[in-house]
Amino acid sequence: MEMYVMLIILAYLIGSIPSGLIVGKQFYQIDIREHGSGNLGGTNAFRVLGKKPGLIVTLADILKGTLAASLPLIFNQPEISGLVIGIAAVVGHMFPIFAKFKGGKAVATSGGMILGVSPFIFVVILATFFVSLYLSKYVSLSSIITCIVAVITASVMRDTGLVILTLILTIFIVYRHTANIKRIKNGTEPKITWL
Ligand code: G3P
Repeated sequence: MEMYVMLIILAYLIGSIPSGLIVGKQFYQIDIREHGSGNLGGTNAFRVLGKKPGLIVTLADILKGTLAASLPLIFNQPEISGLVIGIAAVVGHMFPIFAKFKGGKAVATSGGMILGVSPFIFVVILATFFVSLYLSKYVSLSSIITCIVAVITASVMRDTGLVILTLILTIFIVYRHTANIKRIKNGTEPKITWL
């Protein structure tokens, strides 16, 4: 039980590392939460800082999820679920203790967490994301579609734990995209131009 609590706290702290804030402030003296969509995530880092920093922030956010989901294995606790521990990192990314609890939408961190628990689903959702992005040019819409496909894939695989996990993630992520959904409806959501 103590180990469970310790891993959840550790995962929350890993998820709380504000990659977008660190890269923006250290190298560009910019708080990306004050620009673009105001989101502390890879997409807004791409938008505000550029391609290279955007990619670094996205990869760092993915890594946070993968690392958190792998903590039970790293600490040799195979009976502890990487799914549950990974969720703590997602919460950390959304409400980071190191950034006044104003974090991101956790798409990349959730993807990284999925990579840690099911590389097969990760490949499926990665392909889904890029096909959706190519067709729609909306990162936000592609993120939401990808979440739904993750739930469907987990259901097809008949993996109850993964279905519950991906459903919880989808609810979190769709809720965090409320402003994006409104902007898509009224036609003001920015489209990407590089794909
Ligand atoms: O990963 C977040 C993405 O789906 C939307 O980000 O900055 O356009 O709100 P943003």
